[in-house]
Amino acid sequence: MHYRRLGRTELQLSEIGFGAWGIGGHLWQDSNDDESLQALHRAIDLGVNFIDTAAAYGEGHSEQLIGKVLKSHHDKRICVATKVNPKNYVWPAQKGSDIRDVFPRNYIIERTEQSLKNLGVERIDLQQLHVWNDEWAGADEWHSAFEKLRREGKVWHFGISVTEHDPDDSLKMIDTGEIDAVQVIYNIFDQSPESALFPKCQQKHVGVIVRVPFDEGSLTGAITGQTTFPPEDFRTHYFGGDRKTQVVDRIDKLRALLDGEARTLSELALRFTLNHPAVSTVIPGMRKTRNVEANCSVSDGRKLSPELATALKQHAWQRNFYR
Ligand SMILES: NC(=O)c1ccc[n+]([C@@H]2O[C@H](COP(=O)([O-])OP(=O)(O)OC[C@H]3O[C@@H](n4cnc5c(N)ncnc54)[C@H](OP(=O)(O)O)[C@@H]3O)[C@@H](O)[C@H]2O)c1
Repeated sequence: MHYRRLGRTELQLSEIGFGAWGIGGHLWQDSNDDESLQALHRAIDLGVNFIDTAAAYGEGHSEQLIGKVLKSHHDKRICVATKVNPKNYVWPAQKGSDIRDVFPRNYIIERTEQSLKNLGVERIDLQQLHVWNDEWAGADEWHSAFEKLRREGKVWHFGISVTEHDPDDSLKMIDTGEIDAVQVIYNIFDQSPESALFPKCQQKHVGVIVRVPFDEGSLTGAITGQTTFPPEDFRTHYFGGDRKTQVVDRIDKLRALLDGEARTLSELALRFTLNHPAVSTVIPGMRKTRNVEANCSVSDGRKLSPELATALKQHAWQRNFYR
């Protein structure tokens, strides 16, 4: 496992981090706690030292599972990032919305205290706001909450999770100099952070956490025309209607690029994200030990050839399946 520094912080994070949305269950209906715990343990044994979770993932369940695992690895320095969910439970943040309805100061503090309990830790390495709207960049609510939590030693660093497919809606917040990391969708289909967000993060020494590297599973090749998910699982909507067919067409074209540089689609997808120098870590969701092992093996320091990097640019695809 290779490690990269998170922006200007002192944290050296494994290039492959653990995305812990799926292990929370709920919107990922096919989760199984025993399997998830095994996956977490295996990831740590393979050098993963960064886990990304959120208060909202299974309403604390993901954080609690991580808390159990942290206890049995107390001899290792594992960095945990979590998130404060919007008080009004509206994803994504709405333009024109009042931050006092979404992230009031005391609510940020209370949710953080609950996350500390769920995780069983005294301090959170990185606390993130789970939705963002750059109109809030000058607001006092988050500023005053961050200041208090930092002063009381409850949080080391702060960041934001940037709106799906709208990476530039974070540039003003980065300019405040008050956040150390952004979490953003960056994958072979959505290459948009390369235009403005990544150069800004490099200029300001802000860390980049890449989420959804597999486009919720399509970039692993797992989605076929026949794939179904339980009704309550968010992927029923994400891959609904004719979207599976659209995905299969795109993935078939990508398969033509597989060779000695990347033998599987998931390897290609991870290598694509790690190839950008602005990226600090990528956090695939992985509830199965075999996926943990495959993903960790990609962190070997090898860059993409210029030919493959150029070829991948042609596969960018603008759309929003979360809507
Ligand atoms: N708004 C936000 O802040 C936000 C939103 C979305 C995600 N996130 C964060 O980003 C993380 C990653 O995103 P995600 O989990 O939604 O989606 P993702 O990483 O794009 O895809 C996860 C899917 O890929 C599968 N997978 C993983 N490795 C594989 C491999 N080597 N071969 C085949 N399949 C593989 C997983 O299967 P198994 O799980 O069955 O192993 C799961 O079905 C989340 O867990 C969360 O921490 C944050």
